[in-house]
Amino acid sequence: MDSLLIRGGTRLRGEVQVSGSKNACLPIFAACLLTDQKCLIKNVPNLSDVNFMAQILRELGAEVSMVKDGEWEICAKKISHTAPYELVRKMRASICLLGPLSARMRRAEVSLPGGCVIGARPVDLHIKGMRALNCKTEIERGYLNVDARKIRGARVYLGGRFGSTVTGTANIMMAAVMAPGTTVIENAACEPEIADLAKMLSNMGAQIEGGGTHTITITGVPRLGGTSHTVIPDRIEAGTWITAALATKGDVTIKGAIRSHLGSFLDLLECAGCKFEYLKYDAIRVNASRLKMKPVEAVTLPYPGLPTDLQAQICALATQIDGISVITERIYPERFMHVPELSRMGANISREGPSAIICGKSRLSGAPVMASDLRASAALVIAALAAEGETKIRRIYHLDRGYDSMDKKLKSLGAKIERTPED
Ligand code: EPU
Repeated sequence: MDSLLIRGGTRLRGEVQVSGSKNACLPIFAACLLTDQKCLIKNVPNLSDVNFMAQILRELGAEVSMVKDGEWEICAKKISHTAPYELVRKMRASICLLGPLSARMRRAEVSLPGGCVIGARPVDLHIKGMRALNCKTEIERGYLNVDARKIRGARVYLGGRFGSTVTGTANIMMAAVMAPGTTVIENAACEPEIADLAKMLSNMGAQIEGGGTHTITITGVPRLGGTSHTVIPDRIEAGTWITAALATKGDVTIKGAIRSHLGSFLDLLECAGCKFEYLKYDAIRVNASRLKMKPVEAVTLPYPGLPTDLQAQICALATQIDGISVITERIYPERFMHVPELSRMGANISREGPSAIICGKSRLSGAPVMASDLRASAALVIAALAAEGETKIRRIYHLDRGYDSMDKKLKSLGAKIERTPED
């Protein structure tokens, strides 16, 4: 387990390239199980979560190999239908194997991933969706078993207490592509990662309309074929770089930042006084050298609302803004593990139910801190970059799950950062 040592106080400067999207890539890897032909996936980020998914696909019987940097070939000629606990427990996103296994094998046994530090992560909507498609489901010995022998198209409503479900939508879409008849998913998640998956499935021969909107219509086809697909850039990584540039008063050009994928986030920051330069070919320049930001009032919501996956990073930035910012979490009301660690660095943050109230600007000072989940770790990195002195962030395997070469990219922007083996 490595740690990161960051000496703060340096303004980030230069250009940084955003890698492929983790949350698009994981269901896309799972979708390769839908065909016995070869799929070539490009712009794949180098992440431990991607390696976990590759390992699970291999365990299921698929041939999976990285043909060159960022390009993976997956061929699921002969596969089994059981995704065992030992692998699934390492990554919640493995639940998105349920859809493709049910579609291809007409049977799935996927271990339930269990608890998670960011709060409850139920799968009731996934189960509701599979049942609507006329599948039988049961939970036994910690596994969710699906009997999909009589799967058929149907109307599936996927709204829940916190809005729709992203991986649930991916699952139902993948389950329905080879189900006889027509499926209409209502209140579908419309995140860009879902649109990307729909694009890949269409290229495999699926008949899908409305991917990336709230209503997705799928007409089942007998089989899918292989394809080549390029994963979209990671909007959360792009947002993380923007926040880091602002918190360090830097001047950074972020390449592979798709403006339309970041609408609500950019709007929040523009309302707080930020000015962005939107360059050609999906690049955004943030020059914060002389910027004085106003406090923010932010609420996370399903897409196209403000992503929960940027909430922690916005909290870290708000510690560097004069005035009181309020950040409310509407997707995972308990996702505030970064707050006590930021407080240890000198931030003035109080919790009020699902909201964090941040009183800035705080003089942050480096301290030993502990990463607890992926986005909380990103928030600690941002705070460390803005802090005086040295911060040691432990347990950065969380960062390696979702950020491709973050330390190397930071170094190229001038940050004083070292990766050290944990003592
Ligand atoms: N929910 C239910 N029932 C369900 C499923 C979800 O009530 O059956 C609730 C959840 O508890 C949550 C909300 O619905 O309150 C949204 O959950 P969703 O299912 O959309 O989340 P997910 O698909 O499990 C994906 C991302 C997360 C991201 C969320 C929200 C992947 C692999 N993961 O999770 O990413 O936070 O959508 O946008 O796509 C991350 O990258 O750090 C991360 C956690």
